[in-house]
Amino acid sequence: MCGIVGYIGGEQAAPILLDGLAKLEYRGYDSAGIAVYNGEEIRMVKSMGRLKVLNELTHDGATLPGTAGIGHTRWATHGAPSDTNAHPHFNETGSIVVVHNGIIENYQKLKQKLIRRGYEFRSETDTEVVAHLLDYYYKGNPLEAITRMMHQVEGSYAFGIMFQDHPGEIYAVRKDSPLIVGHAEKGSLIASDVPAVLKYTRSVYFIENEEIVRLTQDEMVFYNIDEEEIDKEPVTIEWDVNAAEKGGYEHFMLKEMYEQPKVVRDTFSPRLKNGDVVIEELGMSDEEIREVRKLYIVACGSAYHTGMTCKYVFEGLARIPVEVDLASEFRYRNPILDEHTLVIIVSQSGETADSLAALREVKKRGVRVLGIVNVVGSSIAREADNVMYTWAGPEIAVATTKAYSTQLIAQYLLALKFAKVRGTISDVEFAGMLEDMERLPEQMEMLLSNKERVQRFANRYLAARDVFFIGRGIDYAISMESSLKLKEISYIHSEAYAAGELKHGTISLIEEGTLVAAVLTQEDLFKKTISNMLEVKTRGACVLAVTQVGNTEVEKAADYVIYIPKTNRYFTNSLAIIPLQLFAYYVSIGKGCDVDKPRNLAKSVTVE
Ligand code: G6P
Repeated sequence: MCGIVGYIGGEQAAPILLDGLAKLEYRGYDSAGIAVYNGEEIRMVKSMGRLKVLNELTHDGATLPGTAGIGHTRWATHGAPSDTNAHPHFNETGSIVVVHNGIIENYQKLKQKLIRRGYEFRSETDTEVVAHLLDYYYKGNPLEAITRMMHQVEGSYAFGIMFQDHPGEIYAVRKDSPLIVGHAEKGSLIASDVPAVLKYTRSVYFIENEEIVRLTQDEMVFYNIDEEEIDKEPVTIEWDVNAAEKGGYEHFMLKEMYEQPKVVRDTFSPRLKNGDVVIEELGMSDEEIREVRKLYIVACGSAYHTGMTCKYVFEGLARIPVEVDLASEFRYRNPILDEHTLVIIVSQSGETADSLAALREVKKRGVRVLGIVNVVGSSIAREADNVMYTWAGPEIAVATTKAYSTQLIAQYLLALKFAKVRGTISDVEFAGMLEDMERLPEQMEMLLSNKERVQRFANRYLAARDVFFIGRGIDYAISMESSLKLKEISYIHSEAYAAGELKHGTISLIEEGTLVAAVLTQEDLFKKTISNMLEVKTRGACVLAVTQVGNTEVEKAADYVIYIPKTNRYFTNSLAIIPLQLFAYYVSIGKGCDVDKPRNLAKSVTVE
């Protein structure tokens, strides 16, 4: 996730900006830049790569004198990592400069408008649109230009902005991306997150949606979008620097689980337009979509599990046969591919060696590949014919949670699009599913707010030797991911089974007290799975059930039940996974494991 810093005061700005950016490094970034106002002009240095490069280029800030400035670490979204796409971004004359965190959803439309008005673009970013838009609206009053810009842009943003003919001022504004400001002895600061300012002050203001702040050396004035001054109360930060990096959460994994409602919304919202699913980056005409006769979803680890779920979604909605394959298997099995095949490679990092090799194998055969990738400009993103990005932001905990959730959403969207174009879904069902999708973030929030209940249950199983997860259909796929989460971070042996398979062997492993977690989100299969739960319960198992609200019948076969809100049958994974992620997390920390960095595992597996 991009990081923003800004400073205005009595000291040299550049070293303070560089120091602040270093404190935001944990957010992940691929390039960095700073712009400093020396009283006459705004000068900028930016570069791809680590902050070290920026420090060298500016001689630790010495080559950019001046007491006001803004800085940025970029995690690419629109446009690959490059010097040009790095922030800050100027208007054409260099008199307005902007740094941005977030996604401008309507940037293409705005860009076309600005081009028609004669503006020339240097980068591929959505941010540059804002620099030119501010230029277009600027008539000498920064506040007016900013609010007019805010009325035009859709999406999420936090901006730091400087105007050359307003020396001694920095502006900051936000909507749905974090931003704080603080006042210190030395001057005023803005930042995406607390760690960047902790060295100077513990008293900060959290900027709320559509609020604007004007910072000078001595004061900070807050405005609403109607340009009216508003009062705000500062908050005293008690966290140490370590906790501050995690937004006050104990671990990155917990923080990332809590980000899920937001990133899920970020992933579907730009693609839901006027009651339709619009995936511009798909690069396939309706005719081409109708011609697809077979889908392969190829991935590793949790990304593979999203494919297992979405096989049911694609087949159910779009009536296309789907094969889901582990990339490490697919690449060596000489799969049957032809011009009617579409291969979807799903990957958070976009660098997983087996997934990349599978992609190359498919391309060698001249078959179309679509990447569903989180890291912009990664190898899979570059080499796939088309790429659909998940907007999860950088994920730091090794065990994926938020990227997994966005991979599901991207595939739901694709399945809906395919179903609509192929005429396999009614208009009523389609509209209902879009409504259900829009409700998911709120429902996820509700499940996350019940974390203490899950924690109490998890604490009973810290000494478990084996845990089994069972379910049918999509619930089997959820079980696979839940089992992986538990074993990778708690080191407890765990397996997932299709519930109907238990009696073909696994049931012999059930002993008094063995924990079996059953997932029941598919109404037509409730009764079947309840029978399987009874089979293990009578053999001494303790049964945890995760099921849809209303399915009280499950209580006769379960010792403990977690209910999830009602949603469309194809979307249940997005909700059921939340308590099961929390369960894995609390077992892991209860056992004292290093939850963010489990032993022997890597975030991105770039070797075979
Ligand atoms: C590693 C990670 C997993 C991830 C898998 C695939 O094993 O620990 O969380 O699911 O790789 O990674 P990718 O980046 O391709 O999604």
